[in-house]
Amino acid sequence: MEIIVSEHSGYCYGVKKAIDTAMEKMDEKGILYSFGDIIHNKRAIQRLSDNGLIVVNDIKSEYESILFRSHGVEKNIYTLAKQKGVEVIDATCVFVKKIQDTVEQNYQSGKNIIIAGDKNHPEVIGINSRADYTAIFITSAEDVDKLDIDLDKEYILVFQTTFNTQKYETIVDKIKAKYKNITIFNTICSATKKRQDSAVELAKKVDLMIVIGDKKSSNSKKLFELTAKYVKSVFIEDKKELESYDFDGINKAGITAGASTPDFVIEEVIDYIKSISKNQ
Ligand code: F3S
Repeated sequence: MEIIVSEHSGYCYGVKKAIDTAMEKMDEKGILYSFGDIIHNKRAIQRLSDNGLIVVNDIKSEYESILFRSHGVEKNIYTLAKQKGVEVIDATCVFVKKIQDTVEQNYQSGKNIIIAGDKNHPEVIGINSRADYTAIFITSAEDVDKLDIDLDKEYILVFQTTFNTQKYETIVDKIKAKYKNITIFNTICSATKKRQDSAVELAKKVDLMIVIGDKKSSNSKKLFELTAKYVKSVFIEDKKELESYDFDGINKAGITAGASTPDFVIEEVIDYIKSISKNQ
């Protein structure tokens, strides 16, 4: 069986930077507190906790310092850390920070905020906190038809960094055709677009796509949704989930992985497929 790995897959710039920062601080301090999971990947989190990372969901004055994850935290968490005298090690990805700033500046200048994305995702909650939790949410072009907005007011629309790039186009077309009072910011991160585009390209050439990522990882889920439109696809967290898979009739397998999937997990999957190919 031929195995082709997607040109862009695995750790993105922001996740890599957060993990490198955490490792550096743990070397220095022995242990490090992280406010929530640094990334959505159980295996990576396990490795980090073996190195001294302690994941917490609160801020206590006994923490010397606390790391904020790549997809950001709510605004009040910074205030809380300051009040408790806890040093903030901010690993919020620059692309997420840019959305937070755009929303905050526009909200403060009187505009209303629309966010395309998953309202329960921590990145989106953090962005919404910059608008005092007043944002309107959409997830599809159908939602644009249901928008209940005041035509005399000004709005801005931002996107979750991992938003589906195909859905982005349909939403933008509909908004432009219907509304003159919504300014659109394309805030989908380029790492997301590159991963999605190269996964789709690969899906068109193979018999099976294997998408590797944590079930909680929204960008991995989106890769799966996209590839499944073109070819039979499986969404796995690691090689164990492939053990019961029947590869009969599969000559070419494509592999892609979300931005929070570590290289060692991808390599384990590749090694596993190579091992079964030999025995076929
Ligand atoms: Fe940042 Fe994009 Fe990754 S927003 S955390 S580089 S997916």
